[in-house]
Amino acid sequence: MSVKHFPLSKAELEKLAERYPTPFYVYDEKGIVENARRIKAAFSVFPGYKQHFAVKALPNPYILKILAAEGFGADCSSHTELLLAEMAGMEGEDAMFTSNETPAREYEAARKLGAVINLDDFSHIEFLEKTAVPQERGLPELVSFRYNPGPLKEGNAIIGKPEEAKYGLTREQIIRGFSLLKEKGVKRFALHTMVASNELSIPYHIETARMLFELTVEIKNKAGVRLEFVNLGGGVGIPYRPDQEAVDYQTLAAGIKKAYDEIVTPAGLDPLGIRTEWGRVITGPYGWLVARAVHKKEIYRNYIGLDACMADLMRPALYGAYHHITIPGKENAPLAETYDVVGSLCENNDKFAVQRRLPKIDVAADGNTAGDFVVIHDAGAHGRAMGFNYNGKFRCGELLLRRDGSIVQIRRPETAEDYFATLDLPGLKHFN
Ligand SMILES: Cc1ncc(COP(=O)(O)O)c(C=O)c1O
Repeated sequence: MSVKHFPLSKAELEKLAERYPTPFYVYDEKGIVENARRIKAAFSVFPGYKQHFAVKALPNPYILKILAAEGFGADCSSHTELLLAEMAGMEGEDAMFTSNETPAREYEAARKLGAVINLDDFSHIEFLEKTAVPQERGLPELVSFRYNPGPLKEGNAIIGKPEEAKYGLTREQIIRGFSLLKEKGVKRFALHTMVASNELSIPYHIETARMLFELTVEIKNKAGVRLEFVNLGGGVGIPYRPDQEAVDYQTLAAGIKKAYDEIVTPAGLDPLGIRTEWGRVITGPYGWLVARAVHKKEIYRNYIGLDACMADLMRPALYGAYHHITIPGKENAPLAETYDVVGSLCENNDKFAVQRRLPKIDVAADGNTAGDFVVIHDAGAHGRAMGFNYNGKFRCGELLLRRDGSIVQIRRPETAEDYFATLDLPGLKHFN
C-alpha cells in the first residue's frame, strides 16, 4: 500500500490560487531531497555510486539544482537537456548524453560540454569520430555503449520488447565495438542499458544488473577492455495506484550488490562503478497537478470538466495510465460518485480518470465562483515535460514548495505571446 499525500491544505490552496490561478504543478523540495538521500544511503554499498537524473522527466533547472546539491548528475538526451544540466551545474562528466538518431551538431555540443557520450549504434563510432570539435581529434577519452539485449531480456508495457526497440547495440556489436574503440585509442569505457519503464519488480532490476555484470566479464575476456562503470539506466517504477508498493531501495541495492559479488569480484573486475539514471522515481511522487473543477455534465456518464487538460499531463491519454485523484477538504468524504474527469481538449481521450469513484465534486456555479480543487497525484515526472500546445492550449506553470514552507514560481504559465512567438507576424501583411 502507498499513502497518497498532498502537502497543502484546502485553505493554503485557496490562498495560493489567488496569486497563481489554477492549473499549476507543485513540487515538494523536502520530499525530493529526502528521497534522494534514501537512494544515496542505500547505494552507498557501492563506493563512487552516481545517480544521473533523467532531465526529460522534469526539465526545470531549479529542480536540477536541488538534485545537483545532493550530488546527482544528469542524464540528457538532447542539446537542450545538456544546456539545462549545465545551468544547474551538472557539467562535464556529471552529464551523460544518451541520445538516439543524433545529429552531428548535438554530438559536437556534448563533446564541447565534456559530457559522457553513450553511443546508440555501431555506426556512430565513426560518426562521432568525424564530428570532433576543433580542439580535439578523433574520439573522446571516455566512450559508453548502450546495450540492447534483444530476446535475452523481457521488456515491459511502456517501453516494449527490447528486440522491437530501436535503441542500442546487439551483444556481438558491443564486443566488436569495444575492440574497435580500443584500437582507435579510447582510454576509458562504459556500458549502459535501459530495458524497462515504470517497473516495480525488484528482481527485474537485479536481473538487469546481473546481465550487465555478465557482459562486463565477457567484454574483458573477448575484447580485452576493462569497463570503468556500468549504467543500469532508468525505469524504476512508482506506485501510481494506492494498492501498489514503492520499490525498497535497500532491497534493490542489496540484490545488485549480491550479483556484483558473485560476478564482478571473482572475475577480478572490482572496482566497477555503478550508475543509474532514474527519473520517475526521483521526482514523480513529489509533484502534483492542481486544477479546479469547472463544469459538471450528466449524459450517458457523469463528467467533471477541469481547467487543466491533457496538454498539461498526457500520461492517462497516452498510456491509459492511472493517476490518483483527491479533492482537498474532502479527503475523508465517502466515494459516493462515479465520474470521468476530463479536460477541455477536442479529443475524447482527454480524460484524467475514467469511471473513477470519487467524493461528490462541486463545480463553479458561474464565472464568478470557483469549484473544488482537484489534485492529480504522482505527476512530478514525465508530467508537464510531455505537454504540448494542440488546440492552442497553453501549458501551465510550475511552483516549488521549499523546505522552509515558502512557495516560489519556477516556471510561469505560457501565454498567447509565447504561442505566437514563432510566427513571422509582420510577414503576414505581405502574404497573399
Ligand atoms: C535513456 C533513458 N534514461 C533514463 C530514462 C528515465 O526513465 P525513468 O524516468 O523511467 O526512470 C529514460 C526515460 O525515458 C530514458 O529514455
